[in-house]
Amino acid sequence: MADEPLVLGIETSCDETGIGIVRGHTLLANTIASSMDEHARFGGVVPEVASRAHLEAMTPTVEAALSEAGLAFSDIDAVAVTAGPGLAGALLVGVAAAKSYALGLGVPLYGVNHLAAHVAVDQLEHGPLPKPCVAMLVSGGHSSLLLVPDVAEDVISLGSTVDDAAGEAFDKVARVLGLPFPGGPHIDRAAREGSGEAIAFPRGKLDDGTLDFSFSGLKTAVARWVEAREASGQAVHVPDVAASFQEAVVDVLTRKALQACRKYGVDDLLIGGGVAANSRLRALARERCEAAGVRLRVPRPGLCTDNGAMVAALGSDLVAAGVTPSTLEIPADSSLPITTVHV
Ligand code: KG4
Ligand code: ZN
Repeated sequence: MADEPLVLGIETSCDETGIGIVRGHTLLANTIASSMDEHARFGGVVPEVASRAHLEAMTPTVEAALSEAGLAFSDIDAVAVTAGPGLAGALLVGVAAAKSYALGLGVPLYGVNHLAAHVAVDQLEHGPLPKPCVAMLVSGGHSSLLLVPDVAEDVISLGSTVDDAAGEAFDKVARVLGLPFPGGPHIDRAAREGSGEAIAFPRGKLDDGTLDFSFSGLKTAVARWVEAREASGQAVHVPDVAASFQEAVVDVLTRKALQACRKYGVDDLLIGGGVAANSRLRALARERCEAAGVRLRVPRPGLCTDNGAMVAALGSDLVAAGVTPSTLEIPADSSLPITTVHV
């Protein structure tokens, strides 16, 4: 292990300044500074606020990660950074910082795809990825099904949301129910006291023959249901609404993920992104994968949400695969396609 390269990973695609340090697939530090508190009162991430927060948090967070790992700048062998997709201004801060560190330390730079990094991170917990595997990434900004023959080189999009991301739906429904932002964890908690079968909410695109998702109809159905209850003077039982909404989301997600496995003859499913922290999604996925004979991998919640370790993990794979490093001219690309694993 000692001779594997030490990789510093920098993630700034949204509101988390994430710094990770890995050696091979061994996690040495995963430090996060979040600007979420500054966005909460707006009910969503404000890009300009996130960018400014990254600029202020960058150096202290890198130093905190080095100190957590008991390492010095001189130990770093490579720098990896999220080059996209994400918020343009936020990405720029991370990419500029990564270029500076790489240049100052005289080490190679790897600009990586945020979504592929969400897949690669699982190796820090569960070892090398099976080749191929199917990955389902569900977060506030993305909901995608991917076929992953090789996370360092080859990732294929099988489907994605045609409107809201799964996490976005959680956040919007939480708002309707008067729960704080970000709503996912609050809905998860409220749902434990309610019944997922209390209200039959629609399951968008469930049997449409594609591997795409749609959550905006569901979000609207929940809002209409709550409005109608309130208009008729009846009480809204928040736990039942939360549980029934959550059940509709995780039912579709798990069914489509297993359809993808079946269609491509793949026996390994990985679930990542912030929504993978959802307790009902984890439980239902486990149950359905077991019944289908599919092996399931879900990183622990701290590795599912945006973090720097995921970027370092993918960087480490790129170094190991002998991929040519990025130049100091790489751009930040807010809509970087998943087919571009590194830039
Ligand atoms: O991956 P992430 O940290 O950031 C990006 O959006 O890229 O994901 C954040 C999203 C938010 O929408 C949040 O509400 C959702 O993940 N989330 C959850 C849970 N924890 C976080 N959704 C459902 N259940 C949870 N336990
Ligand atoms: Zn993410």
